[in-house]
Amino acid sequence: MLIDQSVITDNAINVRDLTFAWASGETVLDRCTLSVPKGEFWMLLGTNGSGKSTLLRLLAGLLKPKSGDITISDRLGFVFQNPDHQLVMPTVGADIAFGLVSENLTYPETRQRVESSLKAVNLAEMIRRPIYALSGGQKQRVAIAGAIARHAEVLLLDEPTALLDGENQLDLVASVRDLVKQKNLTALWVTHRLNELDYADGAFLLERGQVIDKGDPMRLKKVLLEKS
Ligand SMILES: Nc1ncnc2c1ncn2[C@@H]1O[C@H](COP(=O)(O)OP(=O)(O)OP(=O)(O)O)[C@@H](O)[C@H]1O
Ligand SMILES: [Mg+2]
Repeated sequence: MLIDQSVITDNAINVRDLTFAWASGETVLDRCTLSVPKGEFWMLLGTNGSGKSTLLRLLAGLLKPKSGDITISDRLGFVFQNPDHQLVMPTVGADIAFGLVSENLTYPETRQRVESSLKAVNLAEMIRRPIYALSGGQKQRVAIAGAIARHAEVLLLDEPTALLDGENQLDLVASVRDLVKQKNLTALWVTHRLNELDYADGAFLLERGQVIDKGDPMRLKKVLLEKS
């Protein structure tokens, strides 16, 4: 008897036969299928133009699929490659509080969410710091704190380390992994940097809009290193 794994496991993200084409007719995702188990940190790799960012934008509901199904079990948070596209207020605390405006919280509730989310990303002491006076890695942590403050349980991160140097890169990936495990979140992290696979529970390889390989991140790292 065949057992459908996506039914028996507790997945936070389920994508089935997802197809998407731009108005120009270019098909970017072609019956793409993948699942991310709840509480795990998975990475998404693939060459430039393979459809990674498009997939994340479909998951976030920013684009509408042509066909196929997307199921996301919990509240989403999105972290972009360039934090300057995401942080809009003058200071760290104000930026996170701004993301909570639609939640109709009292002032003490807002304050508590801002403080605890900054603590979660090890930036508690920077609540009053102007955004311009943060490093790239600190800005990415503020963007992640914004998602945590909104009680996001599924994080979608599109190359969050692309603009960071080696030390900040590994700091960020390690702290997101810790956050996922401590708070039982789920994360899908897009990257081109193979050393980040050391921190993942699993990985997908996307090519021409389809998942062509998936599973053990160390095996995928080896496959990709041999290809390069
Ligand atoms: N707004 C858009 N309008 C039309 N085509 C687009 C748009 N955005 C992306 N594309 C095209 O869709 C395809 C997939 O792009 P996407 O950004 O998803 O790739 P990616 O895997 O994220 O690449 P990279 O590694 O360079 O970030 C590419 O051919 C790209 O040119
Ligand atoms: Mg991209």
